[in-house]
Amino acid sequence: MASAKRPAGWGLLVALVQGRTRIADERLEAAVRGQVVLVTGASYGIGEATARRLARAGAVVLLVARTAEQLELVADEIRGSGGQAFTYPANLADPAAVEELVQTVLAEHGRVDALVSNAGKSIRRSVADSYQRFHDIERTNAINYLGPAKLVLELLPSMRERGSGHIVNVSTAGVRTPPLARWSAYLASKSAFDVWLRCVAQEIRGDGVTTSTVYMGLVHTRMSAPTALLNKMPGLTPEQAADQVCTAVAVRPHNITPPLVRPADAFGNLFRVPTDRLFELYFRLSSRTSKRRRDKQEERGEQ
Ligand SMILES: NC(=O)c1ccc[n+]([C@@H]2O[C@H](COP(=O)([O-])OP(=O)(O)OC[C@H]3O[C@@H](n4cnc5c(N)ncnc54)[C@H](OP(=O)(O)O)[C@@H]3O)[C@@H](O)[C@H]2O)c1
Repeated sequence: MASAKRPAGWGLLVALVQGRTRIADERLEAAVRGQVVLVTGASYGIGEATARRLARAGAVVLLVARTAEQLELVADEIRGSGGQAFTYPANLADPAAVEELVQTVLAEHGRVDALVSNAGKSIRRSVADSYQRFHDIERTNAINYLGPAKLVLELLPSMRERGSGHIVNVSTAGVRTPPLARWSAYLASKSAFDVWLRCVAQEIRGDGVTTSTVYMGLVHTRMSAPTALLNKMPGLTPEQAADQVCTAVAVRPHNITPPLVRPADAFGNLFRVPTDRLFELYFRLSSRTSKRRRDKQEERGEQ
């Protein structure tokens, strides 16, 4: 994705804005060799790149997503390079499918050492374009909040019983920065799971089950591709994003956050009214520019 030629210093800019966490192959291998790691959303993007890297480091990866053929393709390539991968096609938005998934996985592998909760769906749409689209809110919640929560509920009893387990939430930096117009459905659903898991984390750490949240910055995947503006912005490759997720699996930090997001988070909390007004201004100006562009296209008879 986003393969346009970039100016000099682009890599540095990406690192500054989105953060760059690298975990050495040996360190990752020492942490995950022989471990059973379930990766959701492993058919494409960040999940796919994460599963490949974990498998290269010797983990037994369980690949979950809806598209069976794509999962099989990823698994075949992993096996072809000597790794161990198993596919479990499932719609995580369906609670019954999540129950069946966990029963099957525990029956076939005995345990899940780490869960990478990565599957997700993003929507960028203004409220004016959403009056007839309540299903946007339902669908984003189903896959970004309710599905991941159900999966954790199903896996936790076995993890707590064994006294070990690790859960990595692939969240977004957008839940740490001030709320942004047009991203309401997506950010609300990602925030819900973030808060849910942070509450749960306090209850389970004493039983040996830990959590990490990766507040991921922009990554150029099929998720961000439809938004033209995002394609021009400095973003990570799926492999660089996988580096962050693998660090979370191996090192188990509380969270991984891009460097500029921490001050933006603090600023937004301290100065809530001015930041909301600033983003409101940006929304108005960008809406006006888009309208002008549409009007010009109509004048020229373009679609
Ligand atoms: N890309 C970014 O800029 C960015 C930034 C911050 C955070 N994130 C987060 O990173 C995660 C991965 O995003 P990505 O960019 O890699 O997107 P992606 O390339 O679109 O991948 C999303 C993955 O989720 C799976 N998925 C979607 N709905 C599902 C469902 N109902 N049941 C099971 N699997 C489902 C998809 O597989 P199927 O379609 O085969 O089911 C796919 O494997 C998401 O949680 C996203 O919120 C992304």
